[in-house]
Amino acid sequence: MDFFKEGKASFFAEDKQLKKAEVFFNPKRKFDRDLNILLVDSLMHENSSGLELFSGSGVRGLRLCIETGKFSVFNFNDIKSKEIVERNLELNGKKLSKIDKTVTSFDSASFESRKKYDYIDIDPFGSPVFYLDSALKLLKKGGILAVSATDTAALMGSAQKACMRKYGSVSLKTAYSNELGIRILIKKIIEEAAVHSIKLLPLMFNFEGNFVRVYFKSTASMNEENVGYAYQCSNCPDRQVKEEIKCSYCGSKMHKIGKLWLGPLYSRKHVMKMLSTLNEENLNFTEDSLSKLSNYLTRISNELEVFSYYTTSEISSFLKQPELSISIFKDKTVLSPKGFRTTKSFSDLLNNGLK
Ligand SMILES: C[S@@+](CC[C@H](N)C(=O)[O-])C[C@H]1O[C@@H](n2cnc3c(N)ncnc32)[C@H](O)[C@@H]1O
Ligand SMILES: [Zn+2]
Repeated sequence: MDFFKEGKASFFAEDKQLKKAEVFFNPKRKFDRDLNILLVDSLMHENSSGLELFSGSGVRGLRLCIETGKFSVFNFNDIKSKEIVERNLELNGKKLSKIDKTVTSFDSASFESRKKYDYIDIDPFGSPVFYLDSALKLLKKGGILAVSATDTAALMGSAQKACMRKYGSVSLKTAYSNELGIRILIKKIIEEAAVHSIKLLPLMFNFEGNFVRVYFKSTASMNEENVGYAYQCSNCPDRQVKEEIKCSYCGSKMHKIGKLWLGPLYSRKHVMKMLSTLNEENLNFTEDSLSKLSNYLTRISNELEVFSYYTTSEISSFLKQPELSISIFKDKTVLSPKGFRTTKSFSDLLNNGLK
């Protein structure tokens, strides 16, 4: 067991890189946890109750409790690491003294509780779909749901059968597969929430290689027509959200992708709130964290709200031309270093000299 510090929390854990790690901790997810803390700090009220269904070492829950000051009740749950979470809570004792803490070791798929929570966190290995039911049953109206997925092969088009089985959708390997994965994950969670008569607004996302995380707020009203299909040409980069059998640019067959979420991947209003919290409040992030968060949120808030992005590499390989520099495009995306968004169709983009 090793000793770590992250943000304001101290804890014992094992680096997940180590073989046979008993208590999971991935130091590479620090930015993701920073973003999580800023989101909770900006968007939640005081005296909230929280439930972390997959605590691992407890680092995320500990940091949420200590650094946001928004929780008066927090339940840490992990099927495997109850003792170490208890030890880590003791280690941070003084900083947590005002919080009513519980540590449990239930299987999250059948987690039950008599009380409901303002914040629920699902951060499993692999797919979160098995845990949505128990989480949604316990989410308060107006509450926030955070969901991670690491089964990116299924979500992003490499394991199509697994995607159909778990998410009920067809994914596809494309230059923008990470966006397809996020949209399929959002669709699945929104669909599951509807079964519980809960409407969810997507607030924010984070994609880091084989890891995706999405946040929602349960709300009274939302446009339900935002779920549907997308169509990708089997030959060229052209894609559409309106039904097309043949590509309008090259006439080839279109692949049908979905169902997926076609609405915004984030809520501009809530992203702006996070940015103003970051700029105005004396948060205890390091300079490095502050600049990464500010850069990320500023980029997200400036993204065009359109389905999918093109990459300079897919266009150059299709046109058999040298690759254009991404710097010439105004509407870049955080989802790919070579990705840009446009409201133009593929043929209009080419007709306008790719501007
Ligand atoms: C990805 S780790 C959680 C990481 C933690 N949230 C963090 O930010 O460091 C997944 C955790 O889920 C636990 N786990 C796996 N299956 C579970 C289940 N069915 N119910 C509850 N916990 C489970 C594992 O013991 C592991 O600690
Ligand atoms: Zn085409």
